[in-house]
Order: sequence, then C-alpha cells, then structure tokens
Amino acid sequence: MSVDVRIFDTTLRDGEQTPGVHVPSHHKVEIARMLEAFGVSTIEAGFPASSPGDKAAVATVAQTVRGCEVAALARCIAADVDAACAAVQAAERPVVHVFLGVSDIHLSRKLRMNRAQAIRAIEGCVSRARARVSTVQFSAEDATRTERVFLRQCVEAALNSGATRINVPDTVGCALPHEYAALIRDIVRFVDGAAIVSAHCHDDMGLATANTIAAIEAGAQQVEVTVNGIGERAGNAAAEQVGVVCAMKGVAHTGLDLTRIAELSRRVAEVTGVPVQPNRAVIGANAFAHSSGIHQDGIIKEAASYEFVPPSLVGVPGHTFVLTASSGRRAIEYKAREMGFDLPGNAADAVYREFIVVAQNRCGAVSDADLADIIRRTVGVTVA
Ligand code: KIV
Ligand code: ZN
Repeated sequence: MSVDVRIFDTTLRDGEQTPGVHVPSHHKVEIARMLEAFGVSTIEAGFPASSPGDKAAVATVAQTVRGCEVAALARCIAADVDAACAAVQAAERPVVHVFLGVSDIHLSRKLRMNRAQAIRAIEGCVSRARARVSTVQFSAEDATRTERVFLRQCVEAALNSGATRINVPDTVGCALPHEYAALIRDIVRFVDGAAIVSAHCHDDMGLATANTIAAIEAGAQQVEVTVNGIGERAGNAAAEQVGVVCAMKGVAHTGLDLTRIAELSRRVAEVTGVPVQPNRAVIGANAFAHSSGIHQDGIIKEAASYEFVPPSLVGVPGHTFVLTASSGRRAIEYKAREMGFDLPGNAADAVYREFIVVAQNRCGAVSDADLADIIRRTVGVTVA
C-alpha cells in the first residue's frame, strides 16, 4: 500500500527563476488553472516582494484558483512576509512560504548574519506570517550544506513559531540520493509529526528526481516540483518524472492526473520559451519514438517489449516510428499501412530496397512524404 504525497508545484515561482524567463500575469493564471486540473496540492504562484507585477499576479492566481492551495514566497524579512500575506489573502487555502539561507556560507557571506540572528529572524517572520495565515511553510535554504545541529535548531525555531510545514531544500543540487534520504529521515524523526516535511531538489548533478523519490521513501510527505523541470540553473525536480516514477513504481499516491501532462508540458514550454529537449523522459518528442529496426519490430509485436511507460499514462496518443537507415522492413510496411498504402506481394521488398538507398544518403530521418514518394516511384501504388 503506497503512501500519499503532496505535490507542491513551483513552476510559477522557482520555474520562473529559469534564466531569461518571465511569465506575465495572464499566463500565470492560465498555467495555474492547468495545474489545478492536473491535481497538484499547492501552487506556488510567485514571490510578491520581487516586483509589483508579481505581487499582482500572485493575487490574481489566489482569487482564481479554488481546487488547491496557493502559496507565495517571502524572504525572512517583515516587508516580504507582509507582501506575501497580502498577495494570497483572497485564496481559499493560502500558504505563506518563508525561507532563510541557514548554511554557514549563506549566513556569513550572503546574509552577513550570525546564527543567533538567524534564529531570531526565523522566529520573527514565521510568527508574523502565522498571525495572518494558518499554513506557513519554513524553508531552511541550503539545508544539505547546513551543519545538522544548527539545522535542527532552525527547524525547532520555526515549529515553535507556528510553522506547519518544514522544507529541506537541496538548494545547490549537491546531495546523493542516500545522503538526502538520511537527512529527510532525520528531520522527519525530529519534527515527529508536528509539521509536514517537504523535499525540494535541484538538478545540478542530474539527481533531482532520484533525490525526490529517495525523500519520499525516507518519509517526506510533500515534494516540490516544476513542470518540465524548469528552474534556477539546471532546474528543479520535474513534475512529470516524479509523477510517473510514483505511479509506475508504486512509490506513492500523488493524486496527479498524468494524462494531462503532455498538454501542460507543451503549454509551459510555450509560455516560458524554454523548449523541451527531444530525449527528455516522459515529455520529450522522442520519449515514445522508435527508430531502430529491432525496436520497431519488437514494438509492432508487443509495445511493452520496448516501452516501460505506456504513452497513454501521460496523455500521448501512442508511439511513433521514425524512419532512418537503421529502420527495418517491418516498420516500412507498418508505416506504409498507417499512411494508407497497401503494398501487394513482394512490393514491400522493392520499397524497402529503395528506402535503404534513400535513407543511407540522408543525415536525418526519411519523412512520411519521402516514403510516399518512394512507394509511388517503386511500385506505383496510390493511397488506398
Ligand atoms: O532552492 C531553494 O532553496 C529554494 C527555496 C526558496 C525554497 O527555492
Ligand atoms: Zn529552489
């Protein structure tokens, strides 16, 4: 029996921190509606203190979305907390997300604060937020590089000041799955049910999804993700990957309607201007495309022979065959049939021979139009 895990989507906040990206208010509302239908538990809509435009955008999302929580980010600064509280006040279920960098490098170099000042800042800002909203998340930024005893003190200060969620970010993506799991296990034990423990992973070493899954297995009750894995630098744990791993491997029940992910991914790529690489898991153009003859033959006989994730799980109509010189005769016949050509007798052999001559002289794939041309030239068959 798998556990339930909350999906905290930060496409519109951490995702918007992707270098070069700005998502205007009307697009934030559109994506927020899609995320709501996707079934996320929380939409982090933005960082209100960052600009008047973002404050207004978060407020509009808060007024619009009804099916899930709407969160706003705030630094551990009174004015940020006030801006976040004001922005989410119209939400049915508002969340204020307060963060402070608590590793030595963040405290001494970035914030120029000592540890006692950090604890006072956490207490002041978490209690300030909690006086206005009932759900307050505290993030110990750079938790994976923070001395453990002090990290626990920060968590304790946040809990004593009214935090209901504790986020343990791997801000710079430096953890291995077993290291992150051990940290989450420790914080879950320390929090002892007094708050939800959340995981937030960055992909600097390509481990964001693995670390997020490890965190769920270690007891995290919430995970933070972005659609297409967009976000600062190399990005965040990807919603579609975490959702699919949870579903396919029975790690946890997310409540996500994964059949919506293909459309959501496409729209996020359009509004952010960040394209999806073709070989990206789940959402890439090649995720369900097959090119080699051996694989195409296997797929024709039984899709599961080369597809672990069924395309229908993630809203993709089916697999596609891309024809190159490594494609086989069966795939040519299959594709021809799909295109409406009935190749009689040994016509398929002749078409295949001609196809190979064309394909070998190509750098890329042979298109459907090219294949139709080959068929007409070779056997003179027209569309059925
Ligand atoms: O990566 C991070 O630490 C963050 C925090 C603001 C939660 O995005
Ligand atoms: Zn982050």
